[in-house]
Amino acid sequence: MRTHGFTSAGAFLSAFLLFAPDLSSAFYLPGVAPTSYRAGDKVPLQVNHLTPSQSARDAQVRSVFSFDYYHQAFHFCKPDGGPKYISESLGSILFGDRIQTSPFELHMARNETCKAACGEQVFETRDAKFVNRRIWQDYDINWLIDGLPAGQLQLDPNSNTQFYSPGFALGRVDDEQPILHNHYDILIDYHEAGRDQYRVVGILVVPSSLRDSRSLGEGKAECGDQSAPLILSEKEETKVTYTYSVYWRPSATSFATRWDKYLHVYDPKIHWFSLINSAVIVVFLIGMVSTILLRSLRKDIARYNRLDQLGLDDFGGGGDEDSVQEDSGWKLVHGDVFRPPKNPLLLSVLLGNGAQLFMMTGFTIAFALLGFLSPSNRGSLGTVMILLYTLFGFIGGHVSARVYKAFHGDAWKQNFAYTPIAIPGLVFAVFFLLNLFVWARGSSGAVPFTTMLVVVAIWFLISVPLSVAGSWLGFRAAAPTAPVRTNQIPRQIPPARGYLRPLPSMLLVGVLPFGAIFVELYFVLNSIWFSRVYYMFGFLFLCYGLMICTAACVTVLIVYFLLCAENYHWQWRSFCTAGASAAYVFAYCLLYWVRALRFGSWTAGVLYLGYSALISGLFFVLSGTIGFFASWLFVTKIYSSIKID
Ligand SMILES: *[C@@H]1O[C@H](CO)[C@@H](O)[C@H](O)[C@H]1NC(C)=O
Repeated sequence: MRTHGFTSAGAFLSAFLLFAPDLSSAFYLPGVAPTSYRAGDKVPLQVNHLTPSQSARDAQVRSVFSFDYYHQAFHFCKPDGGPKYISESLGSILFGDRIQTSPFELHMARNETCKAACGEQVFETRDAKFVNRRIWQDYDINWLIDGLPAGQLQLDPNSNTQFYSPGFALGRVDDEQPILHNHYDILIDYHEAGRDQYRVVGILVVPSSLRDSRSLGEGKAECGDQSAPLILSEKEETKVTYTYSVYWRPSATSFATRWDKYLHVYDPKIHWFSLINSAVIVVFLIGMVSTILLRSLRKDIARYNRLDQLGLDDFGGGGDEDSVQEDSGWKLVHGDVFRPPKNPLLLSVLLGNGAQLFMMTGFTIAFALLGFLSPSNRGSLGTVMILLYTLFGFIGGHVSARVYKAFHGDAWKQNFAYTPIAIPGLVFAVFFLLNLFVWARGSSGAVPFTTMLVVVAIWFLISVPLSVAGSWLGFRAAAPTAPVRTNQIPRQIPPARGYLRPLPSMLLVGVLPFGAIFVELYFVLNSIWFSRVYYMFGFLFLCYGLMICTAACVTVLIVYFLLCAENYHWQWRSFCTAGASAAYVFAYCLLYWVRALRFGSWTAGVLYLGYSALISGLFFVLSGTIGFFASWLFVTKIYSSIKID
């Protein structure tokens, strides 16, 4: 009952949010059921991996690898009996979360100062070097209490508002000297929901470095003072005591709105401005293109049908030929326009996979918009994406088979087999190779072998059979009928000139769908590489819609020009011209690298390029599919509206 109410409220509010930018701070997220504690109850603190963050010095990110919290070089305190993994969703694991138990003892609403997390730790020089390097790279520690990340208080200079950014610094650099934080002031906001019912609604950690802290045994400690920071020597052993204090602060924030402080929109005004800007341009463009297209098409069709009439009226031999001579433009290629393209198998496989991606992305964004995938359900975004992709294998197989049938293909076995295997296999192979790099660096971001096996099993046991079933149904269905007959002998194609040549047309057309998404792409990249929470699905939904419209519209336009130039090879052309926006996405990723990232190692660069190429490749298939189907619809429509004897 309760969750249902949450969800519809979320849906309503996200719809509302699209029209009320100022309310974005009050964005409400349905989440997991609240946990209440009584005063003095033990509140578990869980630890996640360490992640690179944006440097405070120059706003750059210097690494892409994450490290396990209990990586031996950090010497962080372990709980009695060793740390245990907390069970997580598949999406959460694939996206890098490694959540484990910790030795920190927190008791609801009980302030405690200067406790030792464990006894004294000794850093060898090798470990000191490793940790100092991580401090240079601005690594953040990620803790979770009651599903809520421990953050640092930050001020947004644009709007002068304070917000919590998840993660807090492992150390800091003072005068070119890395300093390790070994004391944590944990400030927890709690909300009293009822009598003796307390809920965690916010966590801040203020880390500091105290060289002279000493452990007194049994969790007691004597904390040093701030003036003497702890520096890990790279020449001799350093002794370190990890200490913490806990302060509970009563708060008016309710459990339902506790994520608001974390989900900070960096300058929503700029965001809205650029979005509306691109939307206006795109809508204007689409309007212009479709009016011009409709007008000239109507003229063409009227002319063709009039000529047809004339040709029929003076039924004599010569008149007919004259009127045919007068024919020009796209009608001339009516006997070839439905001729199957070269490599029909490859195109049908790509289109099947594109349809699968299209459904997956559309449904994921819609679910997210309805509030099902809130950040409080860790990893739900990834899990839902994988699940939907698997299930839509059916659509992929079906579309691939139907298209192949329309192309008069006869290598059916290959079509059945390649559709579920070619592209997912390629993606998996690239993912596996990149994962080897991550693994070789000793990073915790490497996906465990068992998870890999699970992914492969899901793919083979669910996705492949569904795809084959879809293909079978598509194979049995009647072929889509073309409105005009195809001639025996292919027509000569005059050489293409100007912007109708393949490369210029791709570059020209590709830039427009990219224009619709590039604002949002920046935020998506931020959330991937800066591990920021992404939740602006309202924006994403609008951008996705705009992208689809633009891709469809400009591809139809280029196909129209192509047919007017008597070139009937529109199938591959429409796929590639719409897909060309992927080249811009890749170029944008490179630009982003130059602007926001500064990697210290070549492996990080390889990883970044690999993932960028993977994302761009999938985007190519997705947008190409949109372009192809829009063009197919268009071609079928225009050729069925003229009379051909
Ligand atoms: C704990 O410390 C905080 C911050 O100093 C203070 O606001 C709060 O009242 C204290 N709580 C208790 C239960 O003493």
